[in-house]
Amino acid sequence: GRPQPKTKLGETVYPTDEWHNVPPAIASSIGRQLHIQKDHPISITRSIIESKFPKPTYQHHNGFVPVVTTGQNFDSLGFPPDHPGRSKADTYYVNASTVLRTHTSAHQLDAFRANSSEGFLISADVYRRDAIDRTHYPIFHQMEGARVWDRKKVPHGNIAQAVWEDIAKLPTHSMIVEDPNPPTHPERNPLQHGHSHDEAEALAAHLKRSLELMVVEIFSRAKDAAIATNPKYVDEPLKVRWIEAFFPFTSPSWELEIFWQGDWLEVLGSGVVKQDIFEKAGVPSQVGWAFGIGLERIAMLLFEIPDIRLFWSQDERFLGQFKGMSDDLHRLKRYVPFSKYPACYKDVAFWLRSSSSSAGGGIRANAADFHENDVMEIVRDVGGDVVEDVTKVDEFTHPKTGRKSLCYRINYRSLERTLTNEEANEFHEKVSRELVNKLGVELR
Ligand code: PHE
Repeated sequence: GRPQPKTKLGETVYPTDEWHNVPPAIASSIGRQLHIQKDHPISITRSIIESKFPKPTYQHHNGFVPVVTTGQNFDSLGFPPDHPGRSKADTYYVNASTVLRTHTSAHQLDAFRANSSEGFLISADVYRRDAIDRTHYPIFHQMEGARVWDRKKVPHGNIAQAVWEDIAKLPTHSMIVEDPNPPTHPERNPLQHGHSHDEAEALAAHLKRSLELMVVEIFSRAKDAAIATNPKYVDEPLKVRWIEAFFPFTSPSWELEIFWQGDWLEVLGSGVVKQDIFEKAGVPSQVGWAFGIGLERIAMLLFEIPDIRLFWSQDERFLGQFKGMSDDLHRLKRYVPFSKYPACYKDVAFWLRSSSSSAGGGIRANAADFHENDVMEIVRDVGGDVVEDVTKVDEFTHPKTGRKSLCYRINYRSLERTLTNEEANEFHEKVSRELVNKLGVELR
């Protein structure tokens, strides 16, 4: 037969199949490891959070490989087979059963199985096919945290009491916290079978206090950084709120939002770990909580970094500003933008193939299975980090033919230099050609 197609990611060779959709630019960024690069703002952010979840209570893991099985990323966590997160439009597949992790929760089950302490933190790069703008990049970083108690090890098997005793050992804080909902709600945020109300309440209280203390720390470092850059800086009182949430692997679940520059900003997901995961991990007598937080968003507000692409910059005008900070988390400074180069906007308009069209077998973009992330990826493949954002500016369906037309506006702007109009045109023509070649659209 034909030789099995393969791809090399990091040090390992993987077989590929028709599910494979990892573009070369993504494959070659695996291994940058921004979260452990000394003096990188993502790494500094990680260290600040780690300081609030110290060893030996929490084990810190920073080197897990990003290539995981669909079992680790989805099945072990109770994602149903038809969950939209599994779609090829949203997730990078190496092959049908192997993905680039979409979240650090992919390691939860294995970490619970191997865990020899009371908790852990896992920091890592995660991968999602997504829109292009100043806050979205197909690779970003998350930190997963968990804290567990063992029914067989706490006095009298009384989890609630053991957890309340641990809460009493935590510091308090004076941040304003809105938390209007009861710890559990029969429909919206159910108690797990096998957990008593007292246990869930204690676990919720420990989770919330621990994460609030983390937020207090982040903002106290952020305030110092702001003052170091602008001595006249006046901060507003810090305000956060807990929102009921849903994740397939926790119940009850919450998101934490921070009131920041006039808006509520979602910063983390969390909840009481589903007992099923401890059972599959071979530690059925454990109970505990887990959270996941995005590091880019925190780093952007900590240092006032305006564009997520900057984290990938190798420009000394960016990296040089953070020198020495990894060694002294109490002497942070905000990022001072270097000049912003001019934007160059170009539009591309095209017709999708009508769904009934049988021409061009194998071409994907008929109206029914067109996905915007395919456009985003083509633009990224061609323009790389020279594209600041892509927005849909027009969409209509022709009244007679029923064909659908779309128009996207691409903003070409380098972070590092001024692009000439010729360069932008070259990128744009290539994008247009690739849209035709790869998606089979018809340019207008
Ligand atoms: N993995 C979730 C996400 O990426 C966050 C999460 C982690 C939620 C742990 C609950 C517990 O959105």
